[in-house]
Amino acid sequence: MSYGLLITLHLLGAVAFAGTVFFEVVLLAGVHDRVPAQHMRPVEQALGTRATAVMPWVLLVLYTAGAALAWRHRALLAHPLASSMGTLMALKIGLAFSVLGHFFTAMWWRRRGQLNGQRSHRLHLSVFCHVLAIVLLAKAMFYLHW
Ligand code: HEM
Repeated sequence: MSYGLLITLHLLGAVAFAGTVFFEVVLLAGVHDRVPAQHMRPVEQALGTRATAVMPWVLLVLYTAGAALAWRHRALLAHPLASSMGTLMALKIGLAFSVLGHFFTAMWWRRRGQLNGQRSHRLHLSVFCHVLAIVLLAKAMFYLHW
């Protein structure tokens, strides 16, 4: 697959994923105080069902394209401390795997009935901070040199 297609798929996946996290953490969280809980609950349930159907495909595209891009930069990633770009790229990829860790932790807690509101909020906030750092690192690795 061409580099142009891979980076476009990766970027589209990143936009969809980061946009969803932004919607949940910044927009939806701010609506809770203004809308009664009995109205919010069915909406959140429907959003959850929709996200469960769509997000695995978004993550599949994002991570598969990311892995293919990383393969193209494998010489750089083999010695991450040898260059600023390698260090920032390795850090970015590490954070992306940490996001996957959050995802699997949430699934594990949900299966065991342990995913309460507070845990879910903390997970979302942590993923939001991760995604922010990932996007900044993804750009910094091309512009920040030492
Ligand atoms: C939450 C997950 C991820 C997000 C939000 C994300 C986001 C991004 C963004 C915004 C870019 C810049 C694209 C551009 O310059 O047009 C990028 C580049 C890149 N990403 Fe990711 N990414 C994620 C996961 C991954 C994973 C899992 C890998 C590898 C296993 C990866 C490897 C790369 C590489 C190698 C580049 C540089 C490609 C290049 O310009 O040559 N990413 N990523």
